[in-house]
Amino acid sequence: MLGDICYSNPTRLYFGQNAMDNLEAELKKYGRNVLLVYGGGSIKKFGIYETVISILKKCGKTIIEDGGVMPNPTVSKLYEGCQRARDGKADFILAVGGGSVCDYAKALSVSIHCKEDPWEKYFVRLEDVGNELVPVGCVLTMVGTGSEMNGGSVITHSEQKLKIAHTFGDNVFPKFSILNPVYTYTLPKYQMVAGIFDIFSHICEQYFSGTDDNTSDYIMEGLLKSLIVSSGVAVKNPEDYEARSNIMWIATWALNTLVAKGKATDWMVHMFGHSVSAYTDATHGMTLAAVSLPYYKYIYTYGLSKFKRFAINVWNVESTGKTDEQIALEGFDAMEKWMKSLGLVMSLKELGVKEEMLDGITEGTFINTGGYKVLTKEEIKEILKRSM
Ligand code: NZQ
Ligand code: ZN
Repeated sequence: MLGDICYSNPTRLYFGQNAMDNLEAELKKYGRNVLLVYGGGSIKKFGIYETVISILKKCGKTIIEDGGVMPNPTVSKLYEGCQRARDGKADFILAVGGGSVCDYAKALSVSIHCKEDPWEKYFVRLEDVGNELVPVGCVLTMVGTGSEMNGGSVITHSEQKLKIAHTFGDNVFPKFSILNPVYTYTLPKYQMVAGIFDIFSHICEQYFSGTDDNTSDYIMEGLLKSLIVSSGVAVKNPEDYEARSNIMWIATWALNTLVAKGKATDWMVHMFGHSVSAYTDATHGMTLAAVSLPYYKYIYTYGLSKFKRFAINVWNVESTGKTDEQIALEGFDAMEKWMKSLGLVMSLKELGVKEEMLDGITEGTFINTGGYKVLTKEEIKEILKRSM
């Protein structure tokens, strides 16, 4: 139900093939020392790095480079980046890359001037920001997480085998994000479809909660339908601008706080997925793909009317003469068919999960209470087994 709501989203989005034209004017609003954050090299390979460097130089910025941000960014990389930023007196962070780079930039933003251990303060204790921030701007090259327009930051502690998300407030959101769908053409298919499933999962995590009549659910059904159509086009022709731009736009709206309004939200699929990544370093979207159907099939009877609605409104399941259970299950069949058509990972084994890891993954899976069923640790392990 939509109760008392305050809505604002401070990120200024520039979207389209000429989006980069706006970087110069944006950079001029911020300080001189720019920490340029990027990943393992794709931006150099595909020319985005050169474009960004020339704009930074034109603006007279001092550039401090912090490359090598890995997918599932780690706390040790965060400590290293903080030192680099302090040494260079960074007063702005420009993230150029995917969700990992944007998330890492936001983690840096809150950590550079933090007097305590930022992992403990922000990712273990999930405290509010209590120190000076360094503002962040993003140039997005990979689609899925929504990190370009939200306060999320997910950091992995490899030794502790924990991957933890902190959803920071408005002040940590990127000041601006530049989204050119053409930049996503070079993504390997594995990353493209992982990103598509990440978007799908973000919507489901918010949709599968509550039993009221909520406008957010109608918006989400629309986003899901558009995603299903455009993903089918993009796997056949990765350079279809219409499809790639739709996917990029859906990703942003799926997780920029809008559709969560009035929703309890579930996020259990992500809790499973994060714990799996902490053990295997697997690609985020693929961890979600491996656990989603086993999880939903385990809990669907607790939220039957919503799973029936999902089947009918999203997957066009014909309902005449069928029980609610039959309709819901046919919805899962349609979802599975779509997932397979994209070439998604359908089991945890494919991600390198071994039986002996299941206790640890269970332990690292945090229990949320906003969905249709609050799971016990035993049930978490059972769902993981079914996902193998
Ligand atoms: O590192 P480089 O060389 O740039 O290569 C990356 C990386 O290997 C590559 N890539 C990115 N853009 C490319 C490209 N390759 C070719 N052409 C391009 N244009 O793609 C690989 C994956 O990048 P990554 O940033 O890791 O992917 P994604 O955007 O899926 O981010 C995943 C991270 O975001 C977190 C995940 O947990 C994971 O750590 N999430 C963040 C969220 C948020 N902020 O709200 C929510 C999500 O649920 C998620 O948890
Ligand atoms: Zn996700």
